[in-house]
Amino acid sequence: MSTHSPLSTRAAIITGASAGIGQALALDLASKGARIVLNARRAERIDELAQRITDQFGTVETDQGIRPRAVCVPGDAADESTIDAMLNASQDHFGIVADLIVANAGRGLDGSVMTSDTDQWESMLKTNILGVARLIRKAGTQLLDLQANRDWQTHPADLVILGSTVGRHISPFSSMYGCTKFAVNSLAEAARRELGPSGIRVSLIEPAIVKSEFQEMAGYDPEGFAKVMAKFAPVLAPEDIARSIGFIVTQPASVHVCDVVIRPTRQDYP
Ligand SMILES: NC(=O)c1ccc[n+]([C@@H]2O[C@H](COP(=O)([O-])OP(=O)(O)OC[C@H]3O[C@@H](n4cnc5c(N)ncnc54)[C@H](OP(=O)(O)O)[C@@H]3O)[C@@H](O)[C@H]2O)c1
Repeated sequence: MSTHSPLSTRAAIITGASAGIGQALALDLASKGARIVLNARRAERIDELAQRITDQFGTVETDQGIRPRAVCVPGDAADESTIDAMLNASQDHFGIVADLIVANAGRGLDGSVMTSDTDQWESMLKTNILGVARLIRKAGTQLLDLQANRDWQTHPADLVILGSTVGRHISPFSSMYGCTKFAVNSLAEAARRELGPSGIRVSLIEPAIVKSEFQEMAGYDPEGFAKVMAKFAPVLAPEDIARSIGFIVTQPASVHVCDVVIRPTRQDYP
């Protein structure tokens, strides 16, 4: 790995890295030189990804010696104990405070407020809203301390948050999921206003349809979804979102691309 790689001095934390956008992003950021803390509930998946990252992009040199480029913190990203463990893992494993935090873990839910499975409401609200709010609070506290003690213009710090186009445009067909992403939209903008003046970029990424495990996890009817995909084809791949995030976090510290909506070209709505 070249020392000129744009993220070679930085460590990233990515929640929900065992599939889809989180996995693609871990590979993209590692290719740019970052050290990575991987989180998801499926431990074996992130173990494999961590191995792949080190095999592909090399080990890193730390004060404690040569270390693998990626470390895993399995667990529920909405639990405070998991968040603490992720933040500590960067310092323990890499000897640096993570300054690129990605709140990506999330899930969808088929149906509206009238038709969706009410048994799944609480767990989705916990993952999609509480988890993001807790990560903003804990990582934001750490980043404020970090930026107060270094020159922010030479050391960018990023909080990247995955929203959705259904968190900006009301979709009656997935209204319970959509309301969680409206909450994320509001949390991200509020955090941007609160943390930006201290040299911390808070970026909201709002994808439309990305083909990943998301659709199956949300319980979408495969036939119905295949029709939607055919209508807008080709839909986005996780790598399309990862590439945009990679662009944002490699901008100079004084440049903030803060709200990004990414759609398949032929998707008119939402
Ligand atoms: N795909 C889309 O069309 C789309 C569109 C707009 C926005 N988004 C948003 O983008 C983000 C990523 O979605 P994706 O498409 O990559 O979905 P995905 O392929 O289903 O991946 C979701 C990831 O989140 C993890 N995860 C879920 N709940 C978790 C929890 N409680 N704790 C830790 N990890 C958890 C999953 O891993 P484990 O199961 O191993 O925990 C998995 O790694 C989500 O926030 C989603 O809402 C997706």
